[in-house]
Amino acid sequence: MTTTYRIALIPGDGIGTEVLPPACAVLDAVGARHGLQFSYDEFDWSCQRYLAEGAMMPADGLEQIRHHDSILLGAVGWPGVPDHVSLWGLLIPIRRDFRQYINLRPIKVLDGVPSPLRPEILKDGVDFVVVRENVEGEYSEIGGRLNRGFPEEMAVQEAVFTRAGVTRVLDYAFDLAGQRRGVLTSATKSNGIVHTMPFWDQLVAERSAHHPGVRWDQEHIDALAAKVVLDPARFDVIVGSNLFGDILSDLAAAIAGSIGTAPAANLNPEREFPSMFEPVHGSAPDIAGQGVANPLGAIWCASMMLDHLGHPEAGAEVLQAAFGVLAETSVRTRDLGGTATTAEFTREVLSRVGAHS
Ligand code: NAI
Ligand code: MG
Repeated sequence: MTTTYRIALIPGDGIGTEVLPPACAVLDAVGARHGLQFSYDEFDWSCQRYLAEGAMMPADGLEQIRHHDSILLGAVGWPGVPDHVSLWGLLIPIRRDFRQYINLRPIKVLDGVPSPLRPEILKDGVDFVVVRENVEGEYSEIGGRLNRGFPEEMAVQEAVFTRAGVTRVLDYAFDLAGQRRGVLTSATKSNGIVHTMPFWDQLVAERSAHHPGVRWDQEHIDALAAKVVLDPARFDVIVGSNLFGDILSDLAAAIAGSIGTAPAANLNPEREFPSMFEPVHGSAPDIAGQGVANPLGAIWCASMMLDHLGHPEAGAEVLQAAFGVLAETSVRTRDLGGTATTAEFTREVLSRVGAHS
């Protein structure tokens, strides 16, 4: 029996359009071995569209993809279009309207990928996940500006932390830690931010009572940033607010080697709406159009999508194939010090799909 999934593809701009076809090719190859079929609907929502038509996506864009099983997004952003336009015109509406309140970023230092950290720091292996709150917190639209152009000009931006919003992200992170090595670290700053962060800490302590199998601690975000660099092996799951999680996950991706390898998932755990999978990197205008982008971040996203759709064996097969290329061959893209094109690396991954089973 074959299960068919409808996937909304939003390649976006620049190398976003170059890394999604490899992800789809890998999905098709792995799917064929597991009775899964993918039917793709492609949408041209992008900065190119914004420049031509004045909007990143059509007015009924969200309606067009609301009933798909998942969304795969390449990258959006292009010189000449302010970044807040591409973000607030496309990514943030999708995350918020589809209640994708979990942003998940796995961090692994891979065999064959040089990390900027010294080998002795990496000897115990680095394998952790950043869980970022994705719909509230510091990234709110509440606030405003006053007295523009006068000496008393001012801006106010409110952070919003709700009991419901914090509780659900904490429960997700505790559960995830329970399925992994059982250690959760909460990112806080309750010594400096005196209302929202003590509330966050209070809810962490409250929720911990419901997850007795998980050891947890909390660290102030500044000290935590230093520890992620100095002792990354100690972390299993790190949970943080929208802003702290955003910064930490880019820092963590940097210690893992190349931004081109890092994946992210925006999840609606209740599955009332489609979840969205997107590599961490942007549109890379400096290398766009050359066919040399690293497709691993996007391919890893395909694996996370398979996990979310309930096919973790298929997801694991994708990673085994992709990581195997880096660990066992010299085929790699330029960002990892190789000479392979996007297509050559993808071909090598495809040749290994299922090779170890
Ligand atoms: P970027 O991630 O596009 O590029 C940073 C550097 O990393 C560049 O030198 C690029 O060549 C390299 N790089 C990135 N991905 C790569 C890959 N897969 N393979 C090989 N090399 C890779 O970040 P940048 O330059 O700050 O932003 C460019 C545009 O992308 C901006 O408009 C920005 O707003 C947007 N952006 C979009 C994101 C998204 O769609 N979620 C995330 C980050 C940036
Ligand atoms: Mg970021």
